[in-house]
Amino acid sequence: MQEHDELRLLRALLRASDYGVLLSDATRRDLVCNRRFSEWFGLSEQETTQAPPEQVRAHVLPRLKDPEEFVGTLDAIYADPKLTREDEVELVAPRPRVLHRYTAPVLDEHGRVIGRLWTFADITRTRRLEKRVLAQQAQLKEQARQLAVALRAVHGRLGKVENALTQTQRQLFESEKLSAIGLLAASVAHDIRNILTPLTIELALADTDDPNARAQALDAMRAQLDRLALLTQRLLALSRPAPDQFAPVDVCGVVERIVALLTPQAVLESVTLTAHCARRLPHVHGDAVQMEQVLVNLALNAVQAMRATDGGALEIAACRRRGGVSLRVSDTGPGMDKAVRRRLFDPFFSTKPGGAGLGLFSCRRIVEAHGGALTVRSAPARGTAVQVWLPGEET
Ligand SMILES: Nc1ncnc2c1ncn2[C@@H]1O[C@H](COP(=O)(O)OP(=O)(O)OP(=O)(O)O)[C@@H](O)[C@H]1O
Ligand SMILES: [Mg+2]
Repeated sequence: MQEHDELRLLRALLRASDYGVLLSDATRRDLVCNRRFSEWFGLSEQETTQAPPEQVRAHVLPRLKDPEEFVGTLDAIYADPKLTREDEVELVAPRPRVLHRYTAPVLDEHGRVIGRLWTFADITRTRRLEKRVLAQQAQLKEQARQLAVALRAVHGRLGKVENALTQTQRQLFESEKLSAIGLLAASVAHDIRNILTPLTIELALADTDDPNARAQALDAMRAQLDRLALLTQRLLALSRPAPDQFAPVDVCGVVERIVALLTPQAVLESVTLTAHCARRLPHVHGDAVQMEQVLVNLALNAVQAMRATDGGALEIAACRRRGGVSLRVSDTGPGMDKAVRRRLFDPFFSTKPGGAGLGLFSCRRIVEAHGGALTVRSAPARGTAVQVWLPGEET
């Protein structure tokens, strides 16, 4: 290939390039530039290569955003012939444009500087996109900040609503408790009057010389006093259990005492009472008197229910379960339908003529105060089983 053919090919390549290219010799004279360079800096190749450097510079300067800086870097670059450098040049005319500028020395085979190459790439679009992305990022950040502020405000408001609700709930609870206490007082007053009236009568009857009549009156008085004792016991069960007075309780001991207490009544009511206590049960952390209360209530419910079936079987069983003790009080009585099951634990709910409807309500309160759980399984004609689980001392 002839040398001028090579040059022609090189020029064709330069003309086709999307980069602006300028080549100057070691004396700062511009030798070659391409179409893009002419377009961006407003100089034809002829003007660029033939006009003296100052004239070329004077032509270029009005197109620049910062002519002073441009001149300064140009002088610095030419002052150091071996310098390679990359930077950006901003044009304001004929339209705004950002160019990436790269310059490096051209060396001959001996490493001598024989010229300088300048290339320019149009990065206006990239810069514009970057700016837009940055603006969007800033906008997103601002939106996120506003959202966080709004969320914090909502959170704060929710907290206030929650506080108000808790307070309302507490007030409601207090007023409900008050009305429950009122109801209780009325029912207790009623029960006590029901006991005292016959007691006064029996007392009058006991004041006689007839030993038989006196014995009869005393028996009747004793029965009324037993009722009074039971009532007191129920009232006691209603008082709040006090966990700070809890101590290790031997559940089997409790079961034994209850069996002894209830056997006479069970015999009277044709109820077979059996009790099973597994060996080496863990002690339960609690109040023994209150546990007795629970068992008496459950056993009495069973005995009373079995009046409808003219007796039956009542079984109390205690075994180890989940690190605690499971107590089961089951009977072969008539069981309960859905309507009764649903209201079982409501205070003052009773299906019995003289019932206060407080037995299961207080049983559950006591069991829960011990950290345990009370569940009832019952169906019509299938009997009833009440399960009480209490956590063991070591758990
Ligand atoms: N073992 C049972 N079998 C059938 N029904 C039962 C049994 N235990 C409770 N019930 C039903 O649940 C109701 C509520 O029982 P709870 O012990 O709370 O009150 P009560 O026995 O009616 O009255 P109180 O125990 O206060 O004297 C009873 O009236 C009864 O209808
Ligand atoms: Mg009861």
